[in-house]
Amino acid sequence: MLIIGHRGARGYAPENTLRSFKKAVGLGAQGVELDVHLSKDKKLIVIHDNDVSRTTRGKGLVSQITLEEIKKIDAGSGERIPTLEEVIDLLAGKNILLNIELKGLGTVVPAVKLIEQKRITNQVVISSFLYNKLRIAKNLNPKIKTGILIRKLPRRLADFLKLAKTHHADGFHIRHNFLKKKYLAAAHQNNLYIWAWTVNSSREIKKFKSWGVDGLITNYPDRAL
Ligand code: G3P
Ligand code: MG
Repeated sequence: MLIIGHRGARGYAPENTLRSFKKAVGLGAQGVELDVHLSKDKKLIVIHDNDVSRTTRGKGLVSQITLEEIKKIDAGSGERIPTLEEVIDLLAGKNILLNIELKGLGTVVPAVKLIEQKRITNQVVISSFLYNKLRIAKNLNPKIKTGILIRKLPRRLADFLKLAKTHHADGFHIRHNFLKKKYLAAAHQNNLYIWAWTVNSSREIKKFKSWGVDGLITNYPDRAL
């Protein structure tokens, strides 16, 4: 079971910062998950919300701030908000999976371009709640793995499996409290992988491991390992 650090090691460091990604790797995570939005000057920025105010000392929408201004914002513990390129440069060539969650408008084409330019196609999984982004990414580069993010499972198993087919995805990233054994088995029968997020308690980590889940996204990679 792959252990993926959520927004780096969110339990230990300011989320989605270089410090957080380094921490996750230091704790032994086999991958990191991160969220991407576009700045005013169309740079790929690693931040969860579309607004900087919850996670930093700054204010305003990411889409209304230039990269130069973003770099002046204090993201905690001496950190700055990183660009996707900075995170890739930190981890490229290492044995660490990058789960790039595309959140913001206009992120898919530049993200795929950057992944190709940095030659990390095999090191990346793109995920999104916005499934058209997954289709576009796969269409641009079929070698890039993609995962369907799910908050709530479709009631019918057939509808669940159809999602992967419709959007040409390789697997699912499912909110842990909705995951059912039946869905896991059906996914595996159809050659689709399942990751669960965000799993933080030791009890739940053990449970999903015993079920044979393929990956866990967690704020505490050390607990899972
Ligand atoms: O990718 C798993 C998880 O990060 C999805 O939800 O809101 O934490 O980005 P969120
Ligand atoms: Mg995310």
